Amino acid sequence: MQTYTLSAPAKINLDLEIIGIREDGYHELVMILQTVSLHDRLTLRPNGLEGFRLKCQHPEVPTDSSNIAYRAAELMAKEFPQHFANFGGVDIDIEKHIPVAAGLAGGSSNGAAVLVGLDLIWNLGLTKSQLRDLGARLGSDVPFCIEGGTVIATGRGEKLDPLTSIVSIPVILAKYDNLSVSTAWAYQTYRQKFGDTYKNLTGPGKAHSVHCGPLVNAIFEKDVVRIGQLLHNDLERVVLPEYPQVAELLSRLKDAGGNASMMSGSGPTVFTLCESQEQARDILEKVQNEIQDPHLQFWLTELSNQGITIVN
Ligand code: C5P
Repeated sequence: MQTYTLSAPAKINLDLEIIGIREDGYHELVMILQTVSLHDRLTLRPNGLEGFRLKCQHPEVPTDSSNIAYRAAELMAKEFPQHFANFGGVDIDIEKHIPVAAGLAGGSSNGAAVLVGLDLIWNLGLTKSQLRDLGARLGSDVPFCIEGGTVIATGRGEKLDPLTSIVSIPVILAKYDNLSVSTAWAYQTYRQKFGDTYKNLTGPGKAHSVHCGPLVNAIFEKDVVRIGQLLHNDLERVVLPEYPQVAELLSRLKDAGGNASMMSGSGPTVFTLCESQEQARDILEKVQNEIQDPHLQFWLTELSNQGITIVN
C-alpha cells in the first residue's frame, strides 16, 4: 500500500458576517474564504495496525483525539469499517507550518487532508461532495479546506459556492505566538454582546442582512484595491477589544501600507493584502521594527486556488 504526502493549506477570511443563530446552536454565517500558499504537510503511512498514530513536531499540537486530524481518521474507520479491517490504520505525520489556534483553519485543513488521504489509501473512490459531507461532521471549515480557492460559504460555513479564483496576491500574516483565541469564545461573546442585532433567518431579513455583494463583484472583476476596501469581519468587534495587542498590530499594519488589513476568522492572526512582494517585504520590515516583540511572527505568502493536494 502506498504512502501519501498531502499539502494542507491555510485559509484567510475576506468576509465573515454573522447573521443569526441556528437551531443547532451554531451561528448562521456568510463568509468569503480564501486559501493561501502557506501549508502543512501530512504524510499518511499504512501501519498494518488496527489503529491510528499521530505525530507532530509542534509542541502545541495534540496527538490524541482532541486533534481534528485524528478524529478524521476515526470517522473514516467508523464509516468504512470493512475497508479499515482490510487495509488497517495509518501513521499520520504532521509537518506543521500553519500557526496553531490562529484563525487560519490549520487544524481543519489537517482533518481535510486525512479524509482525502484515507480515501486514496483505502481505495474508496469518494466524490468531492461525499468528502465534504464527511468533513462537515468534523468542523465547519473542513469542507472548504478540501476544496480551497475563493469560495462563498454559508450555513455553518459548510455550504460552498466557488467564486472566481484570485491568486498570486502577496499576503502578510502576522501573529503573536503566545496568543491564541478560542473560536467558541469569540462566537459566544459575539452572541452575548450583539445577539439582539440578529435578523430573522427565514424571512427577507436574511438577504438584507448580508453585505458581501459588492465584495463578490470586486472578486469577480479581480479588482484588488476594491477587494481590500470591502474586507469585513464581524468577529473583530469582540476579539480586538479583548486583545489590545492584536488591535495595535492591525493598526500598525494598516498604517504601514498595502491594500488593506484585517483579522482572519476568530483571530488572532491579522493579514495584509499587498500589491507586490517588494511592498510586502517593506511593510513587514517596518512593522517588525516598530513592534520589537520576540513573540511576534510574520509569514509572507500569497493567495492560492489550491485545496488539499497530493504532493507524492
Ligand atoms: O465547527 P467548528 O468546530 O470549527 O466550530 C468551533 C466553534 O465555533 C463551535 O463550537 C461554535 O462555538 C463556534 N461556531 C459557531 N457558528 C459557526 C461556526 C462555529 O458558533 N457557524
